[in-house]
Amino acid sequence: MYNSRITGLGYYVPDNVVTNDDLSKLMDTNDEWIQERTGIKERHWIPKESDDTSAVMGAKAAKIAIERSGLTKNDIDFIVFATLSPDYYFPGCGVQVQDMLDMPTIGAIDIRNQCSGFIYAISTADQFIKTGMYKNILVIGAEHHSNGLDKTTRGRGVAVIFGDGAGACVLSRTEDNTKGILSSHLHSQGKYADKLIVESPSIKNWIPEIIASKGEDISYYPYMDGTFVFKNAIVRFSEVIMEGLNTNNLTPTDIDLFIPHQANLRISQYVQKKFGLSDNQVFNNIQKYGNTTAASIIIALTEAWEQGKVKENDTVVLAAFGSGFTWGSVIIKW
Ligand code: UT7
Repeated sequence: MYNSRITGLGYYVPDNVVTNDDLSKLMDTNDEWIQERTGIKERHWIPKESDDTSAVMGAKAAKIAIERSGLTKNDIDFIVFATLSPDYYFPGCGVQVQDMLDMPTIGAIDIRNQCSGFIYAISTADQFIKTGMYKNILVIGAEHHSNGLDKTTRGRGVAVIFGDGAGACVLSRTEDNTKGILSSHLHSQGKYADKLIVESPSIKNWIPEIIASKGEDISYYPYMDGTFVFKNAIVRFSEVIMEGLNTNNLTPTDIDLFIPHQANLRISQYVQKKFGLSDNQVFNNIQKYGNTTAASIIIALTEAWEQGKVKENDTVVLAAFGSGFTWGSVIIKW
């Protein structure tokens, strides 16, 4: 049986930085509240005049990842694209990347698992490689949140949290089973779908109905029961990390680097404390980017790698929790 290793990493965020003070000009919020509750100092939002979208940013990140892998676009066999903010209702962003990068007519799928999107995406790619079907897969996570947020005081509980950006990696076949993705662990609990949701536009609630509501129906903005999500996140993060460690006969002391989905610095700190991890063992960058949902783990992994924090033979743990609910972890021997 084959295994899969990450051979190239890249990320892209729009230049436009939006600080907490900038947000306080749009809504009743302040830097102190945002930093204290979330750890976020600033985020990148695509400006109105830009051509960036989830697919465009994903393609930019992918280009870097392919270059760094030493491969060319013609060596890629398949694309897995995770996003909750696709350019179109359909088709997905994966096929757009195939076109934007002028790749051969390889297969492309979109993964719609929100904050766990990258975990689901890399796990999916890993299975295609482990079975021998594909050799090199492009895995992308990208989000264009800023255009879909309620930037008034009504939406402040959500709008201040989310940022735009994309990350990508190339996952490649290896015959060394001691290296690469050791295991991945995926879960869902649809009972809580309504706790973090964008309900419209949808086939259930189509655009003419939203227009007819004359502004009273705001179900096209993300809704989040933040406290409920937070409480579930800390439990599920801990469970799914332990599940991954147990599967591989590892303990928390074996973790060289933990990269949590960047949902809230307080969630990451809770998990860090629970597992007794030092600051060197955990990588966070939510301070600069906010929550970029499906992009957050792969942007963080890329930054950590660029800073020399991911080394050969390291045990790297990725974990996420979010809308669905969905959650998961991936254990990697680098
Ligand atoms: O990535 C996907 C998964 N997402 C998560 O894991 C997010 C989980 N949840 C959270 O991170 C936190 O629940 C939030 C950051 C969203 C909110 O923090 P909180 O400590 O749970 O605050 P809260 O929602 O209980 O709100 C506390 C107060 C409220 O005012 P009152 O009712 O106490 O007077 C809010 O209206 O803070 C108010 N508030 C704000 N104030 C200033 C809410 N948003 C803001 C804001 N600025 N942006």
